Amino acid sequence: MLPSIFLILLSTLILLLITAFSPVIFIKHNKRQKERNVTTQVNISSRENFTDEGDQLFKMGIKVLQQSKSQNKRRVTYLLFAKAADMGNLKAMEKMADALLFGNFGMQNITAAIQLYESLAKEGSCKAQNALGFLSSYGIGMEYDQAKALIYYTFGSAGGSMMSQMILGYRYLSGINVLQNCEVALSYYKKVADYIADTFEKSEGVPVEKVRLTEGPENLSSNSEILDWDIYQYYKFLAERGDAQIQVMYTDEIEFLEHENYKALHYFLKAAKAGSANAMAFIGKMYLEGNAAAPQNNATAFKYFSMAASKGNAIGLHGLGLLYFYGKGVPVNYAEALKYFQKAAEKGWPDAEFQLGFMYYSGSGIWKDYKLAFKYFYLASQSGQPLAIYYLAEMYATGTGVVRSCRTAVELYKGVCELGHWAEKFLTAYFAYKDGDIDSSLVQYALLAEMGYEVAQSNLAFILESKKANILEKEKMYPMALLLWNRAAIQGNAFARVKIGDYHYYGYGTKKDYHTAATHYSIAADKYHNAQAMFNLAYMYEHGLGITK
Ligand SMILES: *[C@@H]1O[C@H](CO)[C@@H](O)[C@H](O)[C@H]1NC(C)=O
Ligand SMILES: *[C@@H]1O[C@H](CO)[C@@H](O)[C@H](O)[C@H]1NC(C)=O
Ligand SMILES: *[C@@H]1O[C@H](CO)[C@@H](O)[C@H](O)[C@H]1NC(C)=O
Ligand SMILES: *[C@@H]1O[C@H](CO)[C@@H](O)[C@H](O)[C@H]1NC(C)=O
Ligand SMILES: *[C@@H]1O[C@H](CO)[C@@H](O)[C@H](O)[C@H]1NC(C)=O
Repeated sequence: MLPSIFLILLSTLILLLITAFSPVIFIKHNKRQKERNVTTQVNISSRENFTDEGDQLFKMGIKVLQQSKSQNKRRVTYLLFAKAADMGNLKAMEKMADALLFGNFGMQNITAAIQLYESLAKEGSCKAQNALGFLSSYGIGMEYDQAKALIYYTFGSAGGSMMSQMILGYRYLSGINVLQNCEVALSYYKKVADYIADTFEKSEGVPVEKVRLTEGPENLSSNSEILDWDIYQYYKFLAERGDAQIQVMYTDEIEFLEHENYKALHYFLKAAKAGSANAMAFIGKMYLEGNAAAPQNNATAFKYFSMAASKGNAIGLHGLGLLYFYGKGVPVNYAEALKYFQKAAEKGWPDAEFQLGFMYYSGSGIWKDYKLAFKYFYLASQSGQPLAIYYLAEMYATGTGVVRSCRTAVELYKGVCELGHWAEKFLTAYFAYKDGDIDSSLVQYALLAEMGYEVAQSNLAFILESKKANILEKEKMYPMALLLWNRAAIQGNAFARVKIGDYHYYGYGTKKDYHTAATHYSIAADKYHNAQAMFNLAYMYEHGLGITK
């Protein structure tokens, strides 16, 4: 069928994907001007009510940021935030401090960040508590002090910082500077997971691709064989760029995205005309969710889902199920919803598997059946469906339909928490790295690593051992990298396990120890069948290094 259209479509998509995962799109954001002393320009004497004025400026800053097209407007935003911060607006101060810490708007000044955070902490800002904890934990700009870090995190968590809650959850799960305690870890992770599940239920959350610096961006995952790869990727790409938080940081993305939505609809309509059921289903999805190109319209969504479903398309069937389940454009009808979800689930569509599980779990229009709920949540979780993972965690945590397991529940909750909007730091950290702003990248990965992300732990270790960073003393680099490779290895990264072997073999950040090196290579070789580890081990056997010849 009309191969030429698909060829055009395919080449456009490939081009888009290449640009999507290379820094090209972001270059304009990264050519940032250095602005260091704007805070000095505030005319405080003219203000009668500092806080009030500060709030106005902060709101103005957000507005300019949302409309900003140019580098110049971004500078204006920064100035407004700076002024608002000087006027005592807490949110603006937090934004300023974050910018100074992570290097947003192209400026990083850890000393100034700490000064701001310290005064914010006195005002009870939990974000500031979290930041100070994180800086003490690494000894960045502050004294390395784990006891102090723990206190800051505890205050941060009590004040509602979800980052602190994840950090404490990870510490209690792994026994880092505290006694290992699964139940405590569970209570921290559950708090955050509840929030994340809520954002996914409102379909606001979109997982961010975490680029692994040790492998490069080529190995991007694609788990959906039942879809045209290109259409799925394109949609995913749009969804990722649509992440609400990224819109706040990179406002040019909004326009870019709007433009892309028009383009997507144009190509999907063409492909649908040519008979692509996936294209029909995605047009339905666009109208169901609504955007500038396809304004929310239940009837149009129904029409396109039906077209796709009549061709046996899983997304179309699932879409119809959703319309009947929520009564969008049609009266609520659980029997119809169940029928369509079942058909889509038979085709292996994870969202439909989740919906089926949810119907059995909540007893929507049918008898509650926890065994069946578990079965469908499990199936969907195997494809990474976030809500399915969350409900599985709930079932394990409460022993509903399955034998209670704290450990399994925590690991599942942790997976859900890691889908939170903070994961967007993976994008900004990656682009800062590509842009040569190593210190900015390092601080961002460091926070994510502290929060328990394995990929961030590996990336941070990788940056540390490259010795390109300036904000940590050189002699701290190897020991800290070793610690991070260790955490990543415990979380199941074979490459990190081999690295620990290497560090002991060569004596990086620790003393030379062939025996320990061999032990780690053995784990990597036996457990993960890692080729490099096998080779290293064979070499050591051959030369009788740390092991008998
Ligand atoms: C502050 O900015 C002004 C111009 O905006 C510049 O002339 C001055 O050198 C800067 N001061 C410092 C300490 O960077
Ligand atoms: C500060 O504001 C006051 C009152 O609005 C004004 O008279 C004064 O000229 C301003 N000073 C500067 C340096 O802008
Ligand atoms: C100052 O701002 C606060 C908070 O916005 C407001 O409640 C108060 O009335 C303002 N005071 C004056 C004198 O304008
Ligand atoms: C960083 O901030 C501190 C304190 O505000 C200031 O003294 C210092 O000059 C700043 N450094 C740079 C490079 O701007
Ligand atoms: C679609 O249906 C939902 C649920 O009934 C409703 O809230 C929404 O307003 C409808 N959309 C339009 C454009 O009518």
